[in-house]
Amino acid sequence: MNIGPYALANNLFVAPMAGVTDRPFRMLCKKLGAGYAVSEMVTSRRDLWDSLKTSRRANHEGEAAPIAVQIAGTDAQMMADAAAYNIDRGAQIIDINMGCPAKKVCNKWAGSALMQDETLALQIVEAVVAACAPRQVPVTLKMRTGWCQSHKNALVLARAFESAGVQMITVHGRTREQGYKGWAEYDTVAEVKAALRIPVVANGDIDSPEKACAVLAYTGADALMIGRAAQGRPWIFREIAHFMATGTHLAPPLLAEVKRLLLDHLLDHYTLYGEFTGVRSARKHIGWYLKSLPGGEAFRAQMNLLQDCQAQLAAVADFFDALGEQMDRIPAVASNKHGPEAAQAGLNKDKKQEEAAA
Ligand SMILES: Cc1cc2nc3c(=O)[nH]c(=O)nc-3n(C[C@H](O)[C@H](O)[C@H](O)COP(=O)(O)O)c2cc1C
Repeated sequence: MNIGPYALANNLFVAPMAGVTDRPFRMLCKKLGAGYAVSEMVTSRRDLWDSLKTSRRANHEGEAAPIAVQIAGTDAQMMADAAAYNIDRGAQIIDINMGCPAKKVCNKWAGSALMQDETLALQIVEAVVAACAPRQVPVTLKMRTGWCQSHKNALVLARAFESAGVQMITVHGRTREQGYKGWAEYDTVAEVKAALRIPVVANGDIDSPEKACAVLAYTGADALMIGRAAQGRPWIFREIAHFMATGTHLAPPLLAEVKRLLLDHLLDHYTLYGEFTGVRSARKHIGWYLKSLPGGEAFRAQMNLLQDCQAQLAAVADFFDALGEQMDRIPAVASNKHGPEAAQAGLNKDKKQEEAAA
């Protein structure tokens, strides 16, 4: 699969997640089988570009190409300027955020809220494409199915965005109103895919190899984007890739491998954030890695009290060494939650809800 001139390693993408998919985590996911990763969103507010938060988000040191940066905002000119600014700092692909239900960006509702104002949404896309085209930088876009259940305009907007020059569209199968509640539906994703010539990426609730295959088959999408299921489980990409290629499951990772991956992740994390912020922001990652491991919850409470990198690293290493006395591999993810039946049920849930409501 290609985005503009960039050939991707495969069609399994890491979803942009603010506060999660920083450079260390993106690199780890790519190492473990993700074919593509987009940065956390970067604000289009010029006055914040020099802030520590934005400069960390614009850090791509050592990251494999293509470097994709997501921009968020509500003003067409500011978004065009943000695209140019990020291209000057190494971005090779610019992604427009119309998918995030996050609070306010630029003192106005940005992200998926833009889907409510189709004229403004198109103005933003046209301005960003105009800024990127002379630099040969493809523009992609991430959206939801619409603003609310009664106003699902993903298809109308996707057609307009394609005509305006967007080169790939990701659709998260929820409305803005849903936030993260309920289930993602994939009928809208399938409609968008059927109508467009550019690649379409399916996103939402993909958390197992079976579900990945089901969503790909159901939507006909060109690629899949995985967010929350990769938290603390960055090897999910190789698990899905293996299942797609062979129809069989990879064995869960060895505990020793997870220990090494997590310790390396932490070191990389501290390098980007420094000790004070790094130790604190690493806690959520550690919690995710450990949440399905025996004793993980109890360990987490203790670990959250630690204040420096060395103590955090040592505690994590000790936890894995102790657990290594009991098991070689981490437990497999429960198949009743992620198996084919659940996948099928999840696929049509939204449609069933609509039918029940009608
Ligand atoms: C913590 C968190 C942060 C997110 N930040 C962004 C973001 O910056 N930009 C964006 O387009 N989507 C963002 N999202 C949405 C995800 O990219 C994705 O669309 C959503 O989580 C659904 O996919 P999933 O079910 O695989 O997690 C975020 C989601 C989470 C959970």
